[in-house]
Parts: sequence; structure tokens; C-alpha cells
Amino acid sequence: MINRDTIDNIITTARIEEVIGDFISLRRRGVNLLGLCPFHNEKTPSFTVSPAKGIYKCFGCGKAGNSVNFLMEHEHFSYPEALKYLARKYNIEIEEEEQTPEQLQELNEKESLFNLNLFAQQYFTKTLFETEEGKAIGLSYFKERGIREDLMHKFQLGYNPRKRDAFSEYATNNGYKREYLIKTGLAVETENRLYDRFHERVIFPIHSASGRVLGFGGRILTGEKNRPKYVNSPESEIYNKSKTLYGIFFSKNALISKDNCYLVEGYTDVISMHQAGVENVVASSGTSLTHDQVRIIQRYTSNITILYDGDPAGIKASFRGIDMIVEQGMNVKIVLFPDGEDPDSFARKHHPSEVEAFISKNAANFILFKTKLLLDETQNDPIKKAALIKEIVLTISLIPDGITRSLYVRECSSIMTISEQVLLNELNKKLRTRFNKDSSQKEIEPEPIVETQISAESQSPFDLDSAEYQEKEVIRLLLLYGQEILHIKKSADDLEEISVIVADFIVHEILSDELEFENSLFKRIFQDYIAGRENDVIPDRAWFLDHSDAEVSKTAVNLVFSPYELSQNWLKNNIQVETEESRLKMHIEHTILAFKSKKIEKMIAEIQQKLSNAISTQEQKSLMTSLLELKKQSIRINTRGLGRIIIR
Ligand code: CTP
Ligand code: MN
Repeated sequence: MINRDTIDNIITTARIEEVIGDFISLRRRGVNLLGLCPFHNEKTPSFTVSPAKGIYKCFGCGKAGNSVNFLMEHEHFSYPEALKYLARKYNIEIEEEEQTPEQLQELNEKESLFNLNLFAQQYFTKTLFETEEGKAIGLSYFKERGIREDLMHKFQLGYNPRKRDAFSEYATNNGYKREYLIKTGLAVETENRLYDRFHERVIFPIHSASGRVLGFGGRILTGEKNRPKYVNSPESEIYNKSKTLYGIFFSKNALISKDNCYLVEGYTDVISMHQAGVENVVASSGTSLTHDQVRIIQRYTSNITILYDGDPAGIKASFRGIDMIVEQGMNVKIVLFPDGEDPDSFARKHHPSEVEAFISKNAANFILFKTKLLLDETQNDPIKKAALIKEIVLTISLIPDGITRSLYVRECSSIMTISEQVLLNELNKKLRTRFNKDSSQKEIEPEPIVETQISAESQSPFDLDSAEYQEKEVIRLLLLYGQEILHIKKSADDLEEISVIVADFIVHEILSDELEFENSLFKRIFQDYIAGRENDVIPDRAWFLDHSDAEVSKTAVNLVFSPYELSQNWLKNNIQVETEESRLKMHIEHTILAFKSKKIEKMIAEIQQKLSNAISTQEQKSLMTSLLELKKQSIRINTRGLGRIIIR
């Protein structure tokens, strides 16, 4: 038990921005700090840390709390663990009452597994450096591979002796339970006897982001063919492979400061890179990255450079996996190593300064790399080239940010010597198919077969004919923030502020211009808000998530959980936004304006169409009047914002 004084001392000393800053990268925004929320998947930061208040809050998923809550949520610490962590971080001595044997027994199972892993790691390390067998076999192996002793200590490398049950016996004699030896996978049970899983192997402990030992990898020492080269800990309550990255504990500071993550395959690659002074590196442990692993990297940086040790044919096979990384909003680069080299062997053969230089010189943007590689294979065969277009457009369509997408369209069109318009048309089709898939349960029509004829003028320009995107943003705002309250001025020179509910405000804005939704699902959702407004009950998220109409609820779920794109625009334009409320106001204004101008743009296009077919002068005249009216409205919206009400 930690005494009350110590707890108070810890809580008042801890600085929330420092505590959270150890796990995710935060950027200052006004009085607060902003980052990507570690508790839900997002591409635009809505995770806010307030140093003044000592709290964090995510405006996307709603998670909130203080330093201790953060550690409990993020690191799965218990309350006392979180306090101890903070005490260690701030050098506060913990005054604690001795734990009784009963209390020790009560330590939960997870803790027991962590304790055993720590015990094992210390045993393996001691065996490596201090026993005859360890030195003769393990240590000499690492030395032969050129790993320096300081790196061995840093990564807590070890050795498990040849004797089949050396560790199991030692651990049992020290009071560690059989059950936990089996659950951590340190021992395997055969005919009621325990044997060491890693016997006669050198040991690579696998650490969590906060430095606890989750599991181990054990490498065979000889070229023996009938035993696998590596044996790894099985999954357990504390070790989930797909959520773990080897090296993350040792790299996280460098990931933030370099704002880039090098991805390698194996344990030895990570260690050799560190030895060459390159510390922003993690390993996927021989498989392609999982969604969760990408999210871990994303807490620190959105740039990833894959250090690939295969040939171009091999890398083609991993394109799909890399697409998934692109889809999560990461900027992906690729470095191909010279024939037969991996980062480990390359780093050992070259001077540390050459390693970084080689990587930065050879890093190629993934999408452009992919385009060039596939283009080389088409050899001007038109059918192959059409397939290439589809393939590249598919990858580009996965990029969440619209501006980035259009930059790639430009670059790729010039590499492939194909007009931008062709790529845009294709991209547009893809995005729309995906949008429909996201917002309803409709069956998707099968992809049309590859067109071989390519014409720049054949299709409508990018996104011009649909307001779906703008409609989607309005609905998303309603779902996420409909119930919040804003304080606004009725006009620019009004001093007094009035309070309005976001849903009321948005519904009012759209109804007063008599605008409608095209997408039938959005229309249904919007109607619920209109009805709610009349009855004085604003539907909340839960209302839609459990909606009687399954399609409506599916749409709502998708919208609530998908990230913003719009808010980036004003962030990029350097508009200073100080408070949460003003951020939200900006966002609402921006979204409604975009919706309105899109609608008006469409009405103008329709009238122009009618005008070109109008026969009687009477008809022409009335159309012209409407057209002028719309143009005026459009100018007003584009220059003066919402006009009636100044919400900023
Ligand atoms: N791996 C594994 N099981 C295997 C082979 C590989 O788990 N039988 C994982 C390990 O995490 C390994 C990574 O895949 O680190 C990369 O494999 P490889 O390149 O074969 O191993 P290296 O780490 O390069 O090891 P070494 O250089 O010692 O051969
Ligand atoms: Mn290797």
C-alpha cells in the first residue's frame, strides 16, 4: 500500500504533457497540446492535453482523465502500478507498507507473468555473461556477429543453457509456479515434466513500449537444420504478437525526434542499426505489419521507411501489405538493400555514417516506386498499362487525405505519361464505390473489366457531380457534436453572445436556405434531427447507433468512426485557434459553407444546362434571373461566410 502523502506528492509533481509525451507525439496548439488519440484510430488529431488543467480529452472517442488514468488506460497498469511508474519517472521515493505473503499471492495473474518474465530475463542475462557455458557459447556467438557488449546489455540479451530444464528447475526452486512457466511459454510440459522452450539458444527479450518484458525470441547457435532458427514465446495474457513491435521501447524517443520510423525484419537488424547509431528502428519480426502495429508507430510519427532486403520480385508480393499502411494515413518510403544484404549485414560492413547516408539516398516514395516498378513491366503493352493504372489508382485511393491524393495523381500521371484526367476519373470511380460500400450494406457491383481504350475527355471531371462528400461531413458533425453548446454572436458588431445547440444551428442553417440532401440515408438522418428539433429532443449518437433502420445505424457507425479531412484545411492555412470551442466553431462554419457552396454550384450547373435548352425568351429570362440570384448567393457565401451569424 502506498501512503496518502506519497500519492498526493506524485499527483502534484507529474506533468501531464510529459507523462503522455512519453507515449505519443504532441504538438502545441494554443494553450493545449494536440496529438493522435492512442485509444481510437484517427488520422486527424483530436486528442487534447491541457497542461493547465492536468487532464487529457479526446474529442473523437471521448476518453478523458489525468496522468494516472492515462497510464492505466494506455499501459494497462493497475492504480498502484501507475503511481509507481510516475514515482520512478519523477524520482519520488515511495513510502510503502511491506506486502504480506497473502497480498503477494493476490497480485493478479498478469503481474505474475510479468514478474516471471523479468526473472527469466535476468537469469538469461546472468547466464550469458557469468557462466562458463554462457560465455563459451552465447557470448562468443554474439561477439562473432559483431555485437558490442554495451548493445548486449542495452537489449538485455541472454543465453538459456543446454541442459533441457536448467531454467525451469531454477525458477521452480525460486518459488515460481509451474502454471506461469507454462503460460509464459518459458517452459513446455511433456509427460508431466517441464522443459525449457529456449534451451541452448541465445535470447532476445521482447519489450513493451514502456520497457516491460512481454516475451522472448530464442535463436539457435549452429547451422543445424532440423530445429527452427528462431523460437518465440507463445501468445499469452501479456504477449500479443500482432500488437507488439520489437525494439519499440528503445526507439520511441528517436521516432519522435527523427519523425520517421525505419522498419526492418528481425531482432539482429534492430540491434545492428542501433550499433550504427540509428535508433529510430523497429522490427515486425518477419511478418508484414498488422493494423495494430501501424497504430503503435503512428503514436510517434506518421512517416515510415521500410528497409527491404529482398529483390524487386519479392517486394511485389508485399505491395498489398504496404497498401494497408498507406490506408492508415502513413507516408511510406522504401529502401532496397544491395543484393544479399539486410540492414544487419549492411550496418556491420559499413561505417555508421554510411548507413544513414545510404538509407536517405535510397529512400523512394512507395507509391512512385511502385508505379515505376510496375511500369517497367508493362513494356508498352496497352492492356498491361490499363491494369497498371487500376493498380496505382487503387493505392492512391487509399490515402485518406484529399490533397495528398491529388499530388500523387499528378506525379504518377507524369511517370506513366498518362493524362491526369484519366487517373482522376479512375480514382473518382474507386472513391465512389468505396463510399457506397461504407455508407450502406448494398451489394457492390463487380468491378468493370479493364478498359483498354483510354480517352481523356470521356468522363466527367473529378467529384464535380456529387455533393455526397459535403453531405457526409455535415451529418458527421451532427453525429459527433450535435449536442454540444456554442456561444455565438448574432452579428459581427453584437457584443452579446447567445448559446445555441450545434444541431439546432446546423439544421437552421440548412433549412433556411431550403437545401436538401441527395443521399437517401443522410436525408433520413437529417430528418430525425428536424423532427428532434420540433419535439425538443436532439437525437444523440446512441439513438442512431441503435436505429430501427439497420442501414441508418451502419451509416452512423461508419461516420462516427471515420476521421475528418476538412479540419486539416484550416490548420494548414495557419489559422490560429485557441480553444476547443473555437475549433469546433471553425469546423462547423467550414463544413456548412462547403455544403452550401457545393449545393449552389450544382444548382447553377443545372440552370445553365436548362438555359442552353431553353427555347422561349420568357423561359430564358426567368432562368437568367434565378441564375443571377444564385451567383450572388454563391459570392456571398464564398466571401462573407455565413453572413447572418458570425460564429467565430
Ligand atoms: N523469425 C521467426 N522464426 C523463424 C525465422 C524468423 O520468428 N524461424 C522472425 C524473427 O523475429 C527474425 C525475423 O523473423 O528476427 C527475421 O528473420 P531472419 O531474417 O531469418 O532472421 P534475422 O533476425 O536476420 O536473424 P539472423 O541474422 O540471425 O539470421
Ligand atoms: Mn539476418
